[in-house]
Amino acid sequence: MQTEIKTQIKEGLEGVLVTATALSEVDGGGGHLTIAGYPVEVATRDQRFEALCAQLWSAALNETIEPHEVEKCLGKQRAWAATQLGRMGEAVYAADGMDALRTSVSFVDVSGLAPWEACARLVASTAVFSAAWFSKKTGKPLLAPSPKLPHAADYLRLALGQDQLTPALENGINAYLVCISDHGLNASTFTARVIASTASDPVSSVVGAIGALKGPLHGGAPGPVLDMLEAIGRPENAISWLESQLAEGKRIMGMGHRIYRVRDPRASALESAVENLEKAGLHTKNLALAREVERTAREVLKKRHPNRSLEANVEFYTAVLLDALGLHRSQFSPTFAVGRMAGWTAHYLEQRRTGRLIRPDSIYNGKRFNIKA
Ligand code: COA
Repeated sequence: MQTEIKTQIKEGLEGVLVTATALSEVDGGGGHLTIAGYPVEVATRDQRFEALCAQLWSAALNETIEPHEVEKCLGKQRAWAATQLGRMGEAVYAADGMDALRTSVSFVDVSGLAPWEACARLVASTAVFSAAWFSKKTGKPLLAPSPKLPHAADYLRLALGQDQLTPALENGINAYLVCISDHGLNASTFTARVIASTASDPVSSVVGAIGALKGPLHGGAPGPVLDMLEAIGRPENAISWLESQLAEGKRIMGMGHRIYRVRDPRASALESAVENLEKAGLHTKNLALAREVERTAREVLKKRHPNRSLEANVEFYTAVLLDALGLHRSQFSPTFAVGRMAGWTAHYLEQRRTGRLIRPDSIYNGKRFNIKA
């Protein structure tokens, strides 16, 4: 009986279909990702972040929202978010970047705004709060947002504390935010949808998602990927370093994926974005090493798990790209949240418009005391 019941349980919900979405499609076998109708490599290369937000929110609401309206609104909302920084107390600045974001985003007031404008306020606030957290932590003065700039460029400007950015840096951060903006029912997006399904508010929905993203099995991996590259240092050290990690029962960060059985297409899109930085003359110190470590990790993992394909995931080249853009490793996961906020908010809207209370079932395997009531 117990065994029969156990086989019915899908512990990680693999393969369980719970909704339909017009936002993104993950094809794990083929290694394709479509975001708001575009292949991820095309979107990463050609789309502006605000256009992508407009497409996601339009698809979620089934109405047309123009990219120029989103661009204008994001600029206005970044300026608004800067007026809220006084509410972020010492506890926020003392915390880790994701904890700081989780707490500060929870103060965002979206009352009175149209649904997609509330989403824009959350996207803008995530960018400004994340940049402010790092400035304060490192004692750098925080620049004021520049509402006329594209959102991605203004975020990087604030996050680096550098007033002028080169076009290569602007394109690099835009490519990153677009690439990771949405990705099917990943753990944080599912969390956002579960909260939305209770008819709760959008702020609660995305705050829950930030908490889920923080975990090292999800969005907490890129910092450790950079640690790994630095610990390996030279290509010839890769094999012994990786094998000793596995011998200690540790996982190789940036490798493997729940859905993809081939290389994560976002790893390829972000690797191209790093190549573009290199072509523009930027020093991308970890690209060659990362390629070698990836190749070796694939081989080492293949030996251990011959029947399971474990390839590079998005976090592998996220670490290389964000490092090349000048961001500190403690800013990597918060920067993931800055981009993914576009997807979370769109899923919130879509779940509210089309979804149903998400309430799965469980099997009780605890004690039963034979006590008469
Ligand atoms: N390094 C070493 N072994 C790995 C691994 C990795 N990165 N990823 C998976 N494995 C191993 C597991 O230990 C497991 O081995 P076992 O069968 O001997 O227990 C086997 O491969 C199957 O893994 P499973 O736990 O079923 O995979 P999953 O679908 O639950 O995990 C991840 C997907 C992403 C959580 C997993 O690949 C991982 O932990 N990767 C590293 C963290 C990371 O990069 N996260 C970012 C994801 S975008």
